Amino acid sequence: MEFHEIQNWLKEADPQRLERLWQEADATRRRHVGEDVHLRGLIEFSNHCARSCAYCGLRAENHQLERYRMTAGEILECAHQAVDFGYGTVVLQSGEDYGMDAGWMARVIARIKRETPLAVTLSLGERSEEELHMWRLAGADRYLLRFETSSQILFQQIHPPLSSDSPGRVELLRLLRDMGYETGSGVMVGIPGQTWNDLTHDLLLFRQLDLDMIGIGPFLPHPHTPLGARTVSLNNPERVPNSEETVLKAVALTRLLCPKTNIPATTALATVNRTKGRELALARGANIVMPNLTPLRYRLLYEIYPGKACIQETATECQKCLEARIRRIGRTIGIGRGDSPNLLERTVATGERP
Ligand code: 5AD
Ligand code: FES
Repeated sequence: MEFHEIQNWLKEADPQRLERLWQEADATRRRHVGEDVHLRGLIEFSNHCARSCAYCGLRAENHQLERYRMTAGEILECAHQAVDFGYGTVVLQSGEDYGMDAGWMARVIARIKRETPLAVTLSLGERSEEELHMWRLAGADRYLLRFETSSQILFQQIHPPLSSDSPGRVELLRLLRDMGYETGSGVMVGIPGQTWNDLTHDLLLFRQLDLDMIGIGPFLPHPHTPLGARTVSLNNPERVPNSEETVLKAVALTRLLCPKTNIPATTALATVNRTKGRELALARGANIVMPNLTPLRYRLLYEIYPGKACIQETATECQKCLEARIRRIGRTIGIGRGDSPNLLERTVATGERP
């Protein structure tokens, strides 16, 4: 599928024609990654952040947010809970927190790997090559780093660099992959200023980077951020709306472009449609969900955007709720680590070992 066809689908408004896209995406998902929905337990262990992203509620300039960092003991407790719930993976996520010592992180990763059979995914922002290497050696399996938008101009506007010589996110993704991480990325849909051309290029870049995981969610304005105050001009036809339907089209097209990748039904999508957001994503290309394991008292403070789904529910409630939702739509719950079929294919093809 090429540029114009992708863009036409993104702009398609006819529900009958869209039905074809949904069905093709669902059939492709079934053929390449099957009926299993894998559960990744999310541990948001620190909301400290050194960055000033214009969209994110954790940005350093947001002084209205109380900051926390969980202890190693608390993180391990969550990891053991993940095992009890039958999850195969934990995702350790934080702001870009330089108060979190890299050696400490390595020891936390090593303990999780020693004490549990879990795959460990990191989502810790743009870190140095040495740190990424150290964590890989400690046993981390996967790394998530969304490039947010493929438009360099837009990215620079919403994402001030920490230093002038830091590598770009695309470069970091290549580095992570070379280190043997299963690599994931993704974008926000409907960032103020994002055009249809930008979003089309985003989807093509997913394919070009041969990603193992791809997360797509709507941009949600946070009032304590520069982008939260601005309103999107709805009458500009070149602008991408941050609508549920546009996100679902992007998810479906991503499944067609990257058939073997793992695609989560994101929390941001569940936030714009609490009753059916996840189910719709799972029916239109997605095969992963990420139940939250963060203790409630911290979860409230991990406010990337306001009104986040599952902010009041305990880890046990999220587990039960998500499992019931998956069964209700006739899918099965994945057992084991749920490694990306994309990665498995790559390692077989090149003779590398993961
Ligand atoms: N709306 C939606 N998604 C957001 N993220 C950050 N801020 C927002 C927001 N305001 C997403 C980014 C980031 C991920 C962890 O959360 O894509 O990579
Ligand atoms: Fe958390 Fe439903 S998934 S409450």
